[in-house]
Amino acid sequence: MPTITTRHFLKTSSVLLAGLVLSACGKQEPATPAAGATAAPPVAAAARVYVVGTDAAYAPFESQNEKGEIVGFDIDVVKAAAQKAGIEVKFLNTPWEGIFNSVAQGDRDLLVSAITITPERQQTLDFSTPYFDAQQLIAVKSDSKIAKFDDLKKLKVGVQNGTTGDEVITKLQGKDSVNVKRFESTPLALKEMESGGVDAVVADNGVVVHYVNNNPDSKFKTLADSSFASEQYGIAVKKGNAELLEKINKGLAGIREDGTYTKIYTQYFGATPAATGTTPAPAVAASK
Ligand code: ARG
Repeated sequence: MPTITTRHFLKTSSVLLAGLVLSACGKQEPATPAAGATAAPPVAAAARVYVVGTDAAYAPFESQNEKGEIVGFDIDVVKAAAQKAGIEVKFLNTPWEGIFNSVAQGDRDLLVSAITITPERQQTLDFSTPYFDAQQLIAVKSDSKIAKFDDLKKLKVGVQNGTTGDEVITKLQGKDSVNVKRFESTPLALKEMESGGVDAVVADNGVVVHYVNNNPDSKFKTLADSSFASEQYGIAVKKGNAELLEKINKGLAGIREDGTYTKIYTQYFGATPAATGTTPAPAVAASK
């Protein structure tokens, strides 16, 4: 096997670099267009496109379809809210690990990723008004004897690293527990349960239900537990970005008012949003 030594690599890359510099120089455009050349039409002040980071491994909230497009409930909500607010957005798949940093560093303007608003996260990010109510849910094998959250005290439990699911189980087992198995994504944790590597998975209800329903061969069942606190998802911006936050909040309010939110909700969850907390029931029930 030929190995590339660092020296060789450096040599090659400096040759490449020299070539690049040369070709860049050679391509320099004349300052004034040649006579007769049609000048490019004046571009209307390019609309700013806000970059939205999302960890697209969290169906039905965000995932990638066969074409590699990022789709899901969160995506439709942000697209509709952005349209209402008159702003342009584009979505970039962003690993959960580092997602909060990406907005702090300015690589992303917005984050939508089924992100639970927590006091800890509010120290470094600002959140929109909540757009979805959620709760943790346990997934276990259909034939499992596990009946409640407390039964997981000494068992191997899979979670997505750094999520609220991670938080609840870490609290139950203690932060030094070796039985909390942290994965890069929630589907990876669920796959691990299929092969028997973990006894249970704790994650957001919407995602667990979606997975269990769409993977009947995995033979999983879900367990709710009254000890789980209710959570709310928010769209995040860099701390202090009040201007963008206001736009997003206006957009969210707009799609709630005109029924778009309910339409999207029903499309993904088959029922109208519950009249709890900040997820108001629609003024008029959808007529069939
Ligand atoms: N709601 C949970 C949290 O905020 C999990 C979110 C994970 N989202 C994702 N797209 N992977 O911690």
